[in-house]
Amino acid sequence: MIITRQLCQRVPVVDGQLDILKGINLEIKQGESVAIVGSSGSGKTTLLGMLAGLDLPSSGEILLDNTELTQLDEEARAKVRGKLVSFVFQDFQLLGSLTALENVLLPLEVRGQENVEALAERYLERVGLAQRHHHYPKQLSGGEQQRVALARAFACEAPLLFADEPTGNLDTATGKKIADLLFSMNEEAGTTLILVTHDMELAKRCQRQLVMEAGELREI
Ligand SMILES: Nc1ncnc2c1ncn2[C@@H]1O[C@H](COP(=O)(O)OP(=O)(O)OP(=O)(O)O)[C@@H](O)[C@H]1O
Ligand SMILES: [Mg+2]
Repeated sequence: MIITRQLCQRVPVVDGQLDILKGINLEIKQGESVAIVGSSGSGKTTLLGMLAGLDLPSSGEILLDNTELTQLDEEARAKVRGKLVSFVFQDFQLLGSLTALENVLLPLEVRGQENVEALAERYLERVGLAQRHHHYPKQLSGGEQQRVALARAFACEAPLLFADEPTGNLDTATGKKIADLLFSMNEEAGTTLILVTHDMELAKRCQRQLVMEAGELREI
């Protein structure tokens, strides 16, 4: 489902160059669940953004379902993402002018799906936000915003789900409920899951655990 070859990300900084990713070679099969752990600043979010086709590397290759992303322009990559990818951002990236329900609805409407209202409501209920459909992000707690972001990603029912610290703002019980939801989607729909997390309990529930250390990735 995902293959990377010698993926490198080098960015200019005031005193020269910073190598954020140093030649990542990775293969993830369809339906696998993979956790990426590692210390703050090691490159996890950067890698996730590339695997999802949101950003391009300075060099190397990324194949998503046999499509080489680095050969595509932004429009073509957006098409691939629309078909294959849903993403839960570390900072949620909810639209402040839309309610919780409208945030979940938006990508479904963009995809031209039908009967999206019932689908969006169902996923908001599954993340425990049945009473918050008409709240705006600033009227929600951090954990509630995170769950809207999760409902938005889940509702897309895409074959590839990326989640950057999906339980980072949740208490233990709510975090477990969200994790149960993630893994039931992985099992029922064969969704490929790629999670970044600092929570080793969550990481252990994945089939594979990878650790990022200063831009290099290894299996643990
Ligand atoms: N566009 C950029 N320009 C310069 N440096 C960057 C850029 N993007 C990321 N970095 C740096 O690259 C490193 C990796 O960042 P990244 O966000 O991938 O880390 P992370 O592993 O997700 O950390 P955290 O666990 O804190 O979320 C950091 O040191 C960050 O400051
Ligand atoms: Mg990060």
